[in-house]
Amino acid sequence: MSKINLANVDGVEYEISQSETILESARKLGKEIPTLCDDSRLDPNGCCRMCLVEIDGWPRMAPACATNISPGMKIITENERVRRHRETLISLYLSDHPKNPKDEEKGAPNQLILLAEKYGVSNGWPHLESKRFEREDDPNPFVHFQADKCILCARCVRYCDEVEGVSAITLAGRGSDTTIATADNVSLLESTCELCGGCIDVCPTGAMGEKMPLFSNELPERELSKVRTTCNYCGVGCQMDLNIDSKANNGRGKVVKVTSPPPGTTTNDGNLCVKGRFAYDFIEHKDRIMSPLIRGEDGILHEASWDEAMQHASKGLLAVREKHGSDALGFISSSRCTGEENYLVQKLSRAVFNTNNVHQCAAT
Ligand code: SF4
Ligand code: SF4
Ligand code: FES
Repeated sequence: MSKINLANVDGVEYEISQSETILESARKLGKEIPTLCDDSRLDPNGCCRMCLVEIDGWPRMAPACATNISPGMKIITENERVRRHRETLISLYLSDHPKNPKDEEKGAPNQLILLAEKYGVSNGWPHLESKRFEREDDPNPFVHFQADKCILCARCVRYCDEVEGVSAITLAGRGSDTTIATADNVSLLESTCELCGGCIDVCPTGAMGEKMPLFSNELPERELSKVRTTCNYCGVGCQMDLNIDSKANNGRGKVVKVTSPPPGTTTNDGNLCVKGRFAYDFIEHKDRIMSPLIRGEDGILHEASWDEAMQHASKGLLAVREKHGSDALGFISSSRCTGEENYLVQKLSRAVFNTNNVHQCAAT
């Protein structure tokens, strides 16, 4: 092997085969470097300073997420100096964070607190009240911003710009007043925001949170169980995780929120749209039809079992075929069904009822 492409990470020789950051290389070697502002979908901005590592010959430590690895580099991801830096940085972040954030945790796990626990940091600095302002009365139905939990990592701002492409939010102000705001501080509803909720998803501390579960005092995310499913609002097939409080509704369970699987693991790469992420409260709606209905001789719809509904439908379909022939029937499936369900509809049409009169709404 030519030595020309070799770097050294914690004493291990690493062959550089492509342009990549120190963080990416270290992860390939199974090393854990703590991060807060890093996100694989975003250009690195190296602003949280959590991932600093030592590079032999460099006077200052460098952000692993924003520094490319290069041949001949000798990198140390963990030693006394690096650890002392991480502990000091965490305690500085904690100094104007809410005092008991774990007790107050209502939404997603706070990664800053998880790191504080990992590094054994309790805040040793005098507590400062956060000076950042927030739009407490923003009437948008989904996104809540709690300014004192914000560590200004700008993941929300960068996501909104680089992934969603709408730049609805920005860093505003200077110094310790800096906050996340819209232009002229208008409501998200008056901004270019598409209410995708991506800013909530990327926020490492829960400063951006989802209003519905937060304001209805649901369990925090770490106490919910996740069930992976396919979004059925359109035919793209985005994967989503239903976050379930399994004890709610007398043990029947309740969907408390929807989150996206981590970036890089499914086709939607950690993204969801406004419907996929937020339009789940119909599940508990009091008007929701929970069982099949069959119209009786009296002209009124009556509840029926699935067996009865299937029997009734097949009897009706067979009667039409008997009287008018197969091509009197037509089957229309929905883009809200999965690919497998759409396949079964055409199979039912062609193989069972012997007609090619089958269509799917997304094809029009
Ligand atoms: S909800 Fe989406 S579009 Fe709106 S501010 Fe957040 S990331 Fe931007
Ligand atoms: S709201 Fe969250 S994602 Fe946005 S800058 Fe603050 S901590 Fe980072
Ligand atoms: S993760 Fe590297 S500076 Fe924030």
